[in-house]
Amino acid sequence: MKEEIANIEKNALEEIKNAKDANSLNEARVKYLGKKGELTTILRGMGTIAQEERPKIGEMVNRVRDNLEEKIVEAEKNIKNKELLEKLTKEKIDVTMPSKKQELGSIHPITKVIDEVKEIFIGLGYKIAEGPEIEFAEYNFDKLNTPAGHPARDIQDTMYITDDILLRSQTSTMQARVMENTKPPIKIICPGTVYRSDSVDATHSPVFHQIEGLVVDRHITMSDLKGTLKVFAQTYLGEDTKIRFRPHHFPFTEPSAEMDVSCFVCKGKGCNVCKGEGWIEILGCGMVHPNVLENCNINSKEYTGFAFGFGVERIAMAKHGIDDMRLLFENDVRFLKQF
Ligand code: DAH
Repeated sequence: MKEEIANIEKNALEEIKNAKDANSLNEARVKYLGKKGELTTILRGMGTIAQEERPKIGEMVNRVRDNLEEKIVEAEKNIKNKELLEKLTKEKIDVTMPSKKQELGSIHPITKVIDEVKEIFIGLGYKIAEGPEIEFAEYNFDKLNTPAGHPARDIQDTMYITDDILLRSQTSTMQARVMENTKPPIKIICPGTVYRSDSVDATHSPVFHQIEGLVVDRHITMSDLKGTLKVFAQTYLGEDTKIRFRPHHFPFTEPSAEMDVSCFVCKGKGCNVCKGEGWIEILGCGMVHPNVLENCNINSKEYTGFAFGFGVERIAMAKHGIDDMRLLFENDVRFLKQF
């Protein structure tokens, strides 16, 4: 019996020593010390051993068990250390390696113009309004005094989804949306994307951006419109900027005008930015047509208003001397980096 126990101990120690990982160590533990393990079986069979031998055998088994348990704990520690060491060597960080370069982007010139214009108008007490790019023809045209049959509604100019739904061709849609839901006084600007079925060339794109402005209150006059746009032009383009208004026609304003600014590159002498004119056309504007006010449930006897709208690309191109609109949409980093 003693020999058997000594053998078990020898084999167990050997297996513990050879265990390469936590799994094989556990297998050894179960094999010798588990409920059905070899040592446990001997303890269970004590009844068959001669009375006088029992204390000695019992003592021996206990000693062996204590020894094996101790060795297993030791082996466990060694295995853990070994695994940690392996992990540390594998995951070694080379602090001398060059880091991955983080390319810092820049603000797109279109976003930049929108942000700058927003800031000026917020300073004048305006709120920012934003609305859907997929729009009802009713808001894009009807409510803006542009009834069926008007040339602006032509399928050649506008991208229709159904007969009644389209990609908005102007941010003026927001005039109707805001007036319908807000009691005057109203003072908003609305920057946004608009769509027209134009083919792409140096000055046209089927997708572009506009900023719309709308003021409605009692006693609003054309001089409020002129004063506001003058402050805007001089803040944005320089204090010495001159403005001039030319009569024009828009269905939703009466009277309507286009506003030019003196060329901020040549100061009016004539250069290639203003094409020798000394003036650059920048926006359309006018007094909100009484029909538009009434279409949006605003009493045109009590309230008047002015509106204006301009193309963001045109301003960005003029301001930064960009001669081809396509550059703004191609997203060539070499171009965009300059802003
Ligand atoms: N929506 C016009 C366009 O896309 C621009 C415009 C003209 C807006 C006159 C206005 C305005 O608010 O009063 O051509």
